[in-house]
Amino acid sequence: MRTALVTGGAGFIGSALVRLLGERGYAVRVYDDLSLGKVEHLEGTGADLVEGDVRNVDALTDAARGCGVVFHLAAGTGVQPSIEDPFADFDLNGRGTLSALSAAHRAGATRFVFSSSNAPLGAGAYPASETKPVAPLSPYGAGKAAGEAYCSAFHGAYGLEAVVVRFSNAYGPRSAHKGNVIPTFIRRLLEGEELVLYGDGSQTRDFVFVTDLADGLVRAAETEGVGGEIFQLASGVETSLATLVSLLGDVSGREPPVRREPPRSGEILRNYSLIDKARERLGYAPQVRLEDGLRLTYEWFTSRRAAVAP
Ligand SMILES: NC(=O)c1ccc[n+]([C@@H]2O[C@H](COP(=O)([O-])OP(=O)(O)OC[C@H]3O[C@@H](n4cnc5c(N)ncnc54)[C@H](O)[C@@H]3O)[C@@H](O)[C@H]2O)c1
Repeated sequence: MRTALVTGGAGFIGSALVRLLGERGYAVRVYDDLSLGKVEHLEGTGADLVEGDVRNVDALTDAARGCGVVFHLAAGTGVQPSIEDPFADFDLNGRGTLSALSAAHRAGATRFVFSSSNAPLGAGAYPASETKPVAPLSPYGAGKAAGEAYCSAFHGAYGLEAVVVRFSNAYGPRSAHKGNVIPTFIRRLLEGEELVLYGDGSQTRDFVFVTDLADGLVRAAETEGVGGEIFQLASGVETSLATLVSLLGDVSGREPPVRREPPRSGEILRNYSLIDKARERLGYAPQVRLEDGLRLTYEWFTSRRAAVAP
């Protein structure tokens, strides 16, 4: 049986990946310090959980023994916290990825898949593509760029088939702890609070459903001859926040209350990713339309709310 290790596997995207790996017949080991992830995210998956910090190379190496592939998702995910404390961010995202690569190599894994983002591309990320120059605007983006560079280095120096996948804006079940716009809007809707739109709502994002990302991650692990490469994983669709609000109205059955605020300085106005390379080389083809994914996400939030209600 194929065995996979998932760092950050108790988190939002990691737990979707763990589910898919189980469905595809992998034995799955999760390595997570549970700082943000939750044991309940792994319920029903049958995955083994090893509690630990990714920066502990020895413990991570032990956890990775016998695994052919290591998926590295554990990270600090905030741009703002990285601006406030760039050293802490580097420690987790820069050193943490080097540590995970080193553990995978020492444990004898042949494939490593690193979850990056469009943050390394900075202001040039419209549309995001693998060919754009790296020019991060935040320490978080610099940490991800460093991780990408170490993947290339481990492929070049040690022959580890390290693959980088860059996610756009992910959404889906088990995202209650996330600060992205979709979970934030759904939380506010359920609390009866206003959704805040900065500017006229014409700013765009590429929203990708979490099961499509999980599928892309598995393809990055299973496709031959892609070591040392970078792939954009996204929906490839550009959606304005005004459209998102309207779709959330359809899903929730009532028009969301919206409060408009002045535009925020420095906010990225337009964003989406080109996914042609992933389509061609990995056979990646996102399946979930935004309206369907939003419905599934909204239902997950409402059922969870019902479960925790007094
Ligand atoms: N959510 C998005 O839209 C998005 C976009 C681009 C990239 N990404 C990347 O995808 C990955 C997963 O993101 P997510 O949204 O699922 O976040 P998440 O916070 O839900 O998951 C991260 C997981 O890592 C764990 N973790 C954090 N620090 C750790 C440490 N030192 N040692 C061990 N485990 C640790 C957390 O407990 C959590 O379970 C991250 O690398 C993130 O940068 C996410």
